[in-house]
Amino acid sequence: MLRRPAWLLKASLLITGSAKDAAPVFARLREVDPVCWIPRYDAWLVTRHDDVQALFVDPRVTTDPRVYERYVAPSSPGAMRWVAALPFRATNLDPQSVSRRLALGVLTPRIVERMGLGIREIVERFAAPLRQRRDTVDLMAEFTAPVSATAIGRILGVPPKESDESRFRVLACNATRGIRPIVSESKRKKSESAIVEICEYVLQLVEQRRREPAEDIITELLKVSAASTQDEIDNVVRIVSALVSAGTGTTGVACARGLRTLLLHPGELARLRNDRSLLPNAVEELLRYDSGLALVPRYVVDDFELRGRRLKKGQLVALSVLGANRDPSVFEEPDRLDFGRNCRQALSFGHGPHYCTGTSIARVELLAMFEAALDFLPEGARLLENQIRWSSRGLMGQMRSLPVDFRG
Ligand code: HEM
Repeated sequence: MLRRPAWLLKASLLITGSAKDAAPVFARLREVDPVCWIPRYDAWLVTRHDDVQALFVDPRVTTDPRVYERYVAPSSPGAMRWVAALPFRATNLDPQSVSRRLALGVLTPRIVERMGLGIREIVERFAAPLRQRRDTVDLMAEFTAPVSATAIGRILGVPPKESDESRFRVLACNATRGIRPIVSESKRKKSESAIVEICEYVLQLVEQRRREPAEDIITELLKVSAASTQDEIDNVVRIVSALVSAGTGTTGVACARGLRTLLLHPGELARLRNDRSLLPNAVEELLRYDSGLALVPRYVVDDFELRGRRLKKGQLVALSVLGANRDPSVFEEPDRLDFGRNCRQALSFGHGPHYCTGTSIARVELLAMFEAALDFLPEGARLLENQIRWSSRGLMGQMRSLPVDFRG
């Protein structure tokens, strides 16, 4: 029998992302309370694969945070210009919104493939020094985070100078924190000013690219959008800024979680070392197993019923991607890591009208990073699991470090 208060507390922690190992909590909820009410946040937590998949395409919920009963509008005039109009998020009534159409037009596998060489060069830049190391290495600080931020910067053309890269990483991280539905007032303000700073920086770049086109996504976006009015130019700026925020942490976190998973499963790691042709499917399986993105928010547009629970207009519904990806009704023995598994039904990149527009980039990056890691990780590399730092909050970034002993 479920002891509700304890599970409710754990579920509440998951809404703000502070539980370190979410899968067992989601497993229990999937079984006993698949549409779980979290009173502390006036929110629902949905954990079964069929429900999560259906809600991804259900018009009775939206990605538009302005529908949320606890939505706080931006306060400063600078923020109004950039934060009030939301690319990608406010698009449920028009799934093929301008921002989505433009992003899909430029983030094609062909264009990303053209830039793939650049990504592999960046991975090599951070991987090369690790091949000589025989001490403890924080793979998140020295590999996955800088590769991810540098790669997205290179692809988008933001920022153009290497000296700005670390500043951008911090800004992008602050910007994404504020997008979460439940966030403290101070984090929300910090996020607003990070978004304004990114947008104003990107605006200058956009103006520059209009004068001097370059080999990057800003130039491609300007081409396909034919932006000429200030409104259209502002929209290109918002799209680029959203891509910077969405693409900076995601792949770094996913790769760090994937490397942790690999080191916790020496059998599968050895299998991969022996047969690298498994790598593309291993990337999908590592994302299914733990991508670092546990929950995706939706907001109720019209009251409706789900599994006997009444969801009301304005409420938050947290869709558990991790819960869905470990659902035994879809994946046999879901808690077993298996690089031979068919992952087609995994919801790691979402589903339907908001399916991740960055999948081509994410896959190219992850493939290159895992491949490099197989080369620089010595045979006996040891994960220092007890020394991993975990942040107390956050849907994406719970893991703050990945210490690995390279002495073997
Ligand atoms: C492993 C890395 C990544 C994971 C696990 C991931 C996951 C997701 C998920 C689950 C969604 C759906 C959100 C929803 O339905 O509300 C999404 C949307 C999105 N992702 Fe990713 N993503 C990753 C990498 C990237 C990258 C590298 C970029 C940008 C270059 C990116 C850009 C976006 C954008 C713009 C959206 C919004 C799409 C829309 O609403 O139309 N993502 N991502």
